[in-house]
Amino acid sequence: MLTGKKVLVGVTGGIAAYKAAEVVSRLRKLGVEVHVAMTKSATEFITPLTLRSLSTNPVYVDMFDEPKLWNVEHIALAEYVDSVIIAPATANILAKMTTGIADDFLSTVLLATRAPIFVAPAMNHAMYHHPATQENLSRLKERGIKIIGPGTGFQACGTEGDGRMSEAVEIVETVTQWFSGQDCLKGKKALVTAGGTQEPLDPVRYLGNRSSGKMGYAVAQALQEAGAETILVSAPTDLPTPSGVTRVSVHTALEMYDAVLERFPNIDVVVKAAAVADYRPATQAEQKIKKDGVSRTIDLIPNPDILAELGRRKTSQVLIGFAAETENLLANAQEKMHRKNVNLLVANDVTKPGAGFGSPTNIVSFLFPDGRRIDFPQMSKLEVARNLVAEIANLLGT
Ligand code: PMT
Repeated sequence: MLTGKKVLVGVTGGIAAYKAAEVVSRLRKLGVEVHVAMTKSATEFITPLTLRSLSTNPVYVDMFDEPKLWNVEHIALAEYVDSVIIAPATANILAKMTTGIADDFLSTVLLATRAPIFVAPAMNHAMYHHPATQENLSRLKERGIKIIGPGTGFQACGTEGDGRMSEAVEIVETVTQWFSGQDCLKGKKALVTAGGTQEPLDPVRYLGNRSSGKMGYAVAQALQEAGAETILVSAPTDLPTPSGVTRVSVHTALEMYDAVLERFPNIDVVVKAAAVADYRPATQAEQKIKKDGVSRTIDLIPNPDILAELGRRKTSQVLIGFAAETENLLANAQEKMHRKNVNLLVANDVTKPGAGFGSPTNIVSFLFPDGRRIDFPQMSKLEVARNLVAEIANLLGT
């Protein structure tokens, strides 16, 4: 899967820097075009000459070295590579990546690149468990950066614990596996809904819900990464559209219904992560409703159930629903799965800390009509989305 790929290996200053030589060598053996960027401290542990010889390419260290090519090197390299692996990744580079500090060649490339980034942390176990490092790692994960390891064992400082860099073979295998998942939905068309619909009462007010759109946007990103042509039908959110995804903006459940149903016949997989209002105000005032001190009643009428309608119409499409529950999670989710005729239902208890509305993470179970169930621990919404994409690929037989 890696043959012909262009990979930048970033080496930072820790004792595990010597293992970077094996990472570079293994990648080369797989037919990868390897480039190496080192921090100044890394050069204290392993020489650029070693990595230049193994990669057969010049090694980048200093931002202001005489350029090896005619172009702006850190930007050209950031755009050129298919992936970046930081091995070893010290606590310092993790902190710089989290805050966007770009004060040398490697950290500047990391800020400029849009290629997938893998980091293999390596540090003393007390530094690894420090809340600052743990917070940095979880923020990087939320941004989609893939963390490999660390492993546990004897450390160079003489203590035992976790913080050892994963072995080169494991790092290269993880990257290979990730690339092998990349094209699993190539040629497929996906439609995702995200965010909370807004049902207007008058020109300035609406009935809404707490959905931020994060879950649906992560699903759209993961589908796009897997090679699917992806349409995102989105209720209002502040989130940027994931690159390569086509966004269709809607406000109300009825607008979402039209946008989804119109496209449904040409779609292979639909993921309904949106929180759709079940009811809307029966009338919408043309002018702002004035305050008059009198209590009011809002007359609500039901909205169509988009997912249930897709369940009735589906032919070969794979349908994925979500269930946002506050009690009896599994029983309620199972009932929805059967009633809406979906192939997989993602159940989340939105009252749990770290799950549901607005949170960068989620805690979900995948339910299947044949009774299978997979329970996941708390993880970033992008990780949930990537697990979902793996199941979608199975369901589509790709
Ligand atoms: O957006 P975030 O802040 O990241 O939060 C994520 C989330 C909690 C919104 C998400 O994980 C989630 O659970 N989405 C589904 C929310 C929901 O509306 O669940 P529900 O149990 O009410 O609906 C079940 C399914 O039917 C959903 O797939 C929903 O999109 C669909 N539905 C519901 C009503 C309706 N009128 N039409 C529908 O299609």
